[in-house]
Amino acid sequence: MNNLSVDHLIGIKDLTKEDIEIIFKTADSFKQVINRPIKKVPSLRDITIANLFFENSTRTRLSFELAEKRLSADVVNFSAASSSVKKGETLVDTVNNILSMKVDMVVMRHSSPGAAKFLSERIGAAVVNAGDGTHEHPTQALLDSYSIREQHGEDFNGRKVVIVGDISHSRVALSNIYCLQKLGAEVMVCGPTTLIPKHIDKLGVKVEHDLRTALEWCDVANMLRIQLERQDIKYFPSLREYSMLYGLNKEILDSLSKKITVMHPGPINRGVEITSDVADSDQSIILQQVENGVAIRMAVIYLLASKIKRQ
Ligand code: CP
Repeated sequence: MNNLSVDHLIGIKDLTKEDIEIIFKTADSFKQVINRPIKKVPSLRDITIANLFFENSTRTRLSFELAEKRLSADVVNFSAASSSVKKGETLVDTVNNILSMKVDMVVMRHSSPGAAKFLSERIGAAVVNAGDGTHEHPTQALLDSYSIREQHGEDFNGRKVVIVGDISHSRVALSNIYCLQKLGAEVMVCGPTTLIPKHIDKLGVKVEHDLRTALEWCDVANMLRIQLERQDIKYFPSLREYSMLYGLNKEILDSLSKKITVMHPGPINRGVEITSDVADSDQSIILQQVENGVAIRMAVIYLLASKIKRQ
């Protein structure tokens, strides 16, 4: 069966391991398509998708738009900054107005945790969460795990991944924890006490505060951005001090007993969580992650759209 168990992609928490594997297998086919001279398939000629971005984005917005166009869907883009949201229109009114133009699927980024679920319960279109506040960023986690699979093979059992940095404010961290664990990997989080949620061990992750110990343990290090825009108080004395204790530089990387894979979801703060020589090194797969993002998003949209067509 190549059928997802869900009608919307709100979070990795809702997916089964089989769902994730179906998405990966579908992405394998689409990755071949986007590497051909003609990078387009007619699969979604009868589907219209609205990309609603209530929060800033570069990678996710462009990646979804490209994925939709590669599948031949009709696409409309909405950015809150230049919309009637500024005049006081509510989320549901905004979306219902867009849906009355016969839209089949909504891809939404919003600063409020739960916004995608809220919408999916109120509208008659498939909803894809493109990041909801500090909650989940499911397609980022799927493309991250897909990139690890490409580097280290399909079997995640025993694979060790450390997520470093601002775990408390990161939707990427939570979605990655769910995704990697469902696939069988071991997950560790590493960062200052103030940026790690108190009871995160209840999710079954290891907690480590020393970066070198964490890096010696792992096969893959996912370096997260410090989310200054979501921090209402100071969680560490200065970016310089954070970088000294938790920044990944070439000296540390080269001193480890094995070659690890380095990832970052972007946008990178060069010199804070990762230095340029690490970001641009042959151990970094940051640009492969971005490339894989298009194939993963094509897979998610294609699989959800095929459920709409069957209804
Ligand atoms: N990784 C990610 O979500 O990047 P953007 O905020 O640029 O979309």
